[in-house]
This record gives sequence, C-alpha cells and structure tokens, in this order.
Amino acid sequence: MARQHPTTLFPMVQFKKDTWEIDEFDCISMFLLIGSERAMLIDCGFGMGDLEGAIRGITDKPLDVVVTHRSVDHVAGAWKFPEIYIHPLDRASVLPYSVATRARDFGIIRHRQHDCLPSVYSLHNLYGYEVEKDMLPLDPNKPPVIHDLYDGQEFDLGGGRVVTAYYVPGHSPGHMMFLDPYSRSLFVGDMLNYNLGVAAAPVECTLKSLRKMEALADQYDDIYNGHHDFRALGAPLEEDCLPTAISLAEDILAGRHTMVTVPNFFFNYDWPPVRMAVKDRNYIGFKSSMLWESDGMDSTEEWVKRFELEKA
Ligand SMILES: [Fe+2]
Repeated sequence: MARQHPTTLFPMVQFKKDTWEIDEFDCISMFLLIGSERAMLIDCGFGMGDLEGAIRGITDKPLDVVVTHRSVDHVAGAWKFPEIYIHPLDRASVLPYSVATRARDFGIIRHRQHDCLPSVYSLHNLYGYEVEKDMLPLDPNKPPVIHDLYDGQEFDLGGGRVVTAYYVPGHSPGHMMFLDPYSRSLFVGDMLNYNLGVAAAPVECTLKSLRKMEALADQYDDIYNGHHDFRALGAPLEEDCLPTAISLAEDILAGRHTMVTVPNFFFNYDWPPVRMAVKDRNYIGFKSSMLWESDGMDSTEEWVKRFELEKA
C-alpha cells in the first residue's frame, strides 16, 4: 500500500489510562489527555504530518490545545489548529513559520537525537514520513485564535479530570507546565531535562520554577518533558532529574558550581562549543549576567525580532 501524505503515522503510546505520548518523529513529544467530555493536547510540534488526523484516530472529543512555550518545535504546529492557549509573554512566537525554518530546525533536533546522544529507543529508520510531503506550508491567512494561558488556570476535561496550568519561566519568559492529578503526571515542556537551557530568565527565577515542580510532588508520580531523547517514549524522566536540577541551580547562585565545555548540537552550523554548569547527569545553560531577578528578564523584543527574521 502506498504511503499516505500528510502522514498520520506518528509513533505514539498510551502510557497511562487515557494519556498518550505522540512523538513527532524523535523531535518533540506531544501529550494527549482524554476526559469524558473534552481532550487536551499539550504542544504542537513543527507541524509535520497530520497531527489532528492522528489524534482523531484516538478520540473525537473537542480539543483544548495548549502550548508550553514559544520555541518553534513546540509552537509551529499550533498554526494548524483553530484555537490555542499560550502564556502572553510567549504569544508573539505563534507565527506561520516557513517550511524552510521548520525543516531546518526539525533536522537540527533530529540530528541531536540520532548523532549526539544515545538513542537506543529510536526507530527513525522505519518512520513513514518524507519532509517534502509532510512538512507542508502553514496558511498565513488562517491564524489560530489565541487565548491567554495563566498560572492556576484549570481545564476541566470531564469525568473528574481537571488539568491545572502553572507558570514556570526560565527556558522561555512565558513557559508553562501542566499538572494532571488524574494520571498523576506533571508535563513540564522544556523546563526540566538533563540538558536544561534557561537563558531566558534569571537563574533565581528558574530555581523558583523548579521548586514549584517540587512543591506539587504530592499530586504526581511522574514527570514528562517535551523531548523523549532524555527518556524512553512513554517513560518518565528519572527521579534524580528534578532534585539535581534544583541543587545545581542553588550551586550556580552560590557560585560553587562546576562549568564544562560541551559540544553544541547545532554544529550543522559550525556553532562553537558552549559552556554549561554540570552536576551528576544534569547540565544547565544560563546567562552569567542574569543570576538574580533584579538582573532583569530577557528582552521579549529581542526574541520577536529573531523569529521575524527566521520567518522571512
Ligand atoms: Fe523543545
């Protein structure tokens, strides 16, 4: 049988009852939470293939689409949905990114997954997608309606499944995470992993965000981040990740951390190696000029400019 395009053959797994991880071909993980009345999609990927078609193979419930943060790998596919939720500080990045930008960044992350990190769970050679046929242009005349996402906002999916959004800046100024007591899971986007980039906010701010995750620990058993190259598909982050990230952020603020030079996975562009703080398995990239909240947030304008350039 000939392949169908755009593809709906995303690798996916139902790892808890009514709780799915949908993998955009090793690049980014999206999560589908299904209640008795509604379903929620957390993050939208690059817009490769037919994500909504894949979701409709699982559920026909009305969909609340929420985005953890502004990065193109999480937000580009949002343009394919009629309505989305995103924090106001990150909404300027909801743009109809060009195919060239999406395909380039898709390639960078795939490269990180396949060539820079062990990827024993990868089935990438078997994936049924073709960039030329599955990374289709986004229609600039059909922007999604954007709703604000705010700290403490609740989404009632029915049947007692209520998901709460929490504000956790650091990786981006408007980063959000989602607590789902029904599946006892916390979905943290890119605000926690073993290779944490938090240059968009002062380290003090990041530490507060990480402690916010810790403070909710009685309501979840497992943490899922937005890329399964830090864990297996459907498996949570391991238990050392959050406490070590907190400890490392504390060390940075106390000036007792260790810095190392690591390869830059953007080396498709010959970008130079980067300096990161390290502790056990955790790495944190931060701006040394932004340690304390009084040092100020990253300029949102700067990011808007960057994305406008990429869009061109
Ligand atoms: Fe990401």
